[in-house]
Amino acid sequence: MLVLAMFASSVAIVVGGAEVKGMSPCSFSAIFNFGDSNSDTGAYSAALGASRLPDGKTFFGKPAGRASDGRLIIDFMAEQLGLPYLSSYLNSLGTNYSHGVNFAVGGATIRRMNDQPIPFYLGIQTTQYDQFKARVTNLYNQGKNTSRLPRIEHFSKALYTIDIGQNDAVRAMFLHNPQEQIPDMLNQFAQAVRHLYRQGGRAFWIHNMGPIGCLPINQNFINRTEESFDQNGCTNRWNAMTLEYNKQLKDKVIKLRRELPQAAITYVDVYTVKYGLIRNAKNLGFTNPLKHCTRHLEGINRQCTIPSTYISWDGTHYTEAANRLFAKSILNGSLSDPPLPITHACHKHVTL
Ligand SMILES: *[C@@H]1O[C@H](CO)[C@@H](O)[C@H](O)[C@H]1NC(C)=O
Ligand SMILES: *[C@@H]1O[C@H](CO)[C@@H](O)[C@H](O)[C@H]1NC(C)=O
Ligand SMILES: *[C@@H]1O[C@H](CO)[C@@H](O)[C@H](O)[C@H]1NC(C)=O
Ligand SMILES: *[C@@H]1O[C@H](CO)[C@@H](O)[C@H](O)[C@H]1NC(C)=O
Repeated sequence: MLVLAMFASSVAIVVGGAEVKGMSPCSFSAIFNFGDSNSDTGAYSAALGASRLPDGKTFFGKPAGRASDGRLIIDFMAEQLGLPYLSSYLNSLGTNYSHGVNFAVGGATIRRMNDQPIPFYLGIQTTQYDQFKARVTNLYNQGKNTSRLPRIEHFSKALYTIDIGQNDAVRAMFLHNPQEQIPDMLNQFAQAVRHLYRQGGRAFWIHNMGPIGCLPINQNFINRTEESFDQNGCTNRWNAMTLEYNKQLKDKVIKLRRELPQAAITYVDVYTVKYGLIRNAKNLGFTNPLKHCTRHLEGINRQCTIPSTYISWDGTHYTEAANRLFAKSILNGSLSDPPLPITHACHKHVTL
């Protein structure tokens, strides 16, 4: 034990850019992503036929199954790793899963919700992953054409990314004590990580929750007399829910690192970069962060003139301009624990 601990302490401390130079990049060959609309690249629209202009217009020139005018953080992550954009598991046409699969679905929650129109909660997404993996394995065994599928060894060499929880949290805000829901959310979350680990997943990149109190749409649900607001107009009680969730999520990640000794788990503080943009909107050339670019008027979706000056695309989701800024700040690891860039996220964090 002593020997192990000494060995660990001699290699463990890896902070910031300089030390990264001595580490080899991970050569992730695939991404398997799980989540909600923050990273859905086509599932919701495939399932419900709900993608229409002006969605996608800025970058893709057409609806691209994303709740934004362009790319999402997950798209910038794929670019950074030199991988193609992820096809959604639910998208039947034109899919190419050779470098990963996106299991995220707009509206998805961590926990199973009986009254939820979107049945694809996190536990279902990981079950879909199992099925995908089993079928790919079968096709290889049968000598079938696998040119659109990942190689078997990609499953253990992939980056497993998770961005979910916001829909559970928003729903919890209407309960008497929202924060009581957090332990159950995180137990289910941890189950999903363990599940993927048992299936061979080793590198995990986990986003914490963004500031739900700053989403323009949520301003419609609150009673302005009862709530208090910060200097940016965000609802304090709602952001307090996020902050408490994030604190407990980070604790859970630390526990999971001990429990899953071969896993490299990166905790990414997305809250700080999202809230930072909202707080500095003006200095960074953005308009009022509580306004959003699109509006649904007389049955038509209309958009603002210059989407790149808006943080919020539709009241719930972010514009490509905002997502690009978020990605820029998180991909180099400056908001991660451990603080490694995404290209190095397979290196284990040793807790002393
Ligand atoms: C496999 O399918 C792709 C198209 O999906 C095709 O281009 C390729 O030639 C096929 N490969 C073999 C070995 O049949
Ligand atoms: C799938 O995508 C990969 C990576 O972009 C590409 O190399 C491969 O040719 C594609 N497969 C097919 C069948 O289009
Ligand atoms: C908002 O809260 C105040 C104070 O509790 C209450 O008097 C008022 O009826 C509420 N308004 C709505 C629309 O629920
Ligand atoms: C990471 O990127 C952000 C945004 O561009 C920058 O402010 C920060 O200094 C960078 N951090 C490192 C460690 O490179």
